[in-house]
Amino acid sequence: MTYELILTRTEGRVAIITLNRPKQLNALNDQLMDELGSALKAFDADDGIGCIVLTGSEKAFAAGADIGAMATYGFADVYKNDYITRNWEQLRSVRKPVIAAVSGFALGGGCELAMMCDFIIAADNAKFGQPEIKLGIIPGSGGTQRLPRAVGKAKAMDLVLTGRMMDAAEAERSGLASRVVPLDKLMEEALGAALQICDYGQIAVMAAKEAVNRAYEGTLADGIMFERRLFHATFATSDQKEGMDAFVNKRKPVFTNR
Ligand code: CAA
Repeated sequence: MTYELILTRTEGRVAIITLNRPKQLNALNDQLMDELGSALKAFDADDGIGCIVLTGSEKAFAAGADIGAMATYGFADVYKNDYITRNWEQLRSVRKPVIAAVSGFALGGGCELAMMCDFIIAADNAKFGQPEIKLGIIPGSGGTQRLPRAVGKAKAMDLVLTGRMMDAAEAERSGLASRVVPLDKLMEEALGAALQICDYGQIAVMAAKEAVNRAYEGTLADGIMFERRLFHATFATSDQKEGMDAFVNKRKPVFTNR
């Protein structure tokens, strides 16, 4: 299959998927997420592949869901059609390990996508955050559920409520990233980890992943659905229209709390 918004290649038994909308800082739209889902499914089913690395560009792993694409949506659109993040959780059904190799911005849906991977190796220029609050919405693809599990409630609240970014050192210190390496060593480090995993027995690797996720995911499914409905509900507000219109038109938003 040919893809337009991702690149795929293999190195030994490792599959590498690169998000490839560089001009939009890899903003995640339906097409990109469909392509990602289909590549993940194909590599998961391929006996020649033992581990998958997901990465972006030097400047951005992904700067979030595509704001331009959703700026005009209302509550009825997003709720009725389960818009924006309905095809995102497919990453969770991949049974082989998926490593996120993150450089640059991993914001909003980009941070959420990285957190859906099994672990994150960050370049020293990586910046993580959930800035949705600035757009008059909340995280919509697991941010309010996975971030507290990864970094604890205090830091998750701080990031979600202020919308600030944290750098790679803070992300490693707080448990979001498992390793931080210089930018020019990112892929070497991620590939090294992936190749190491490929050398182990695949059944044990899959079982280990499944078991760790069991500990981690508890009642995540309920949390995700709860979050998705609240996320959709923010599209009923004027503040969502204002926040996104302001972004698209490069001006400062004026929120009216309605
Ligand atoms: N959606 C659509 N386009 C985006 C985008 C996004 N999430 N992020 C960046 N872009 C676009 C910009 O509009 C810009 O396009 P033009 O060149 O056509 O103007 C281009 O990418 C480059 O961006 P900037 O000029 O803004 O680059 P910068 O270096 O000055 O700033 C940034 C980088 C801080 C990441 C800034 O682009 C930014 O704040 N982006 C938005 C981040 C965000 O709010 N993410 C959350 C989205 S909502 C979400 O993800 C919901 C969810 O939970 C599922």
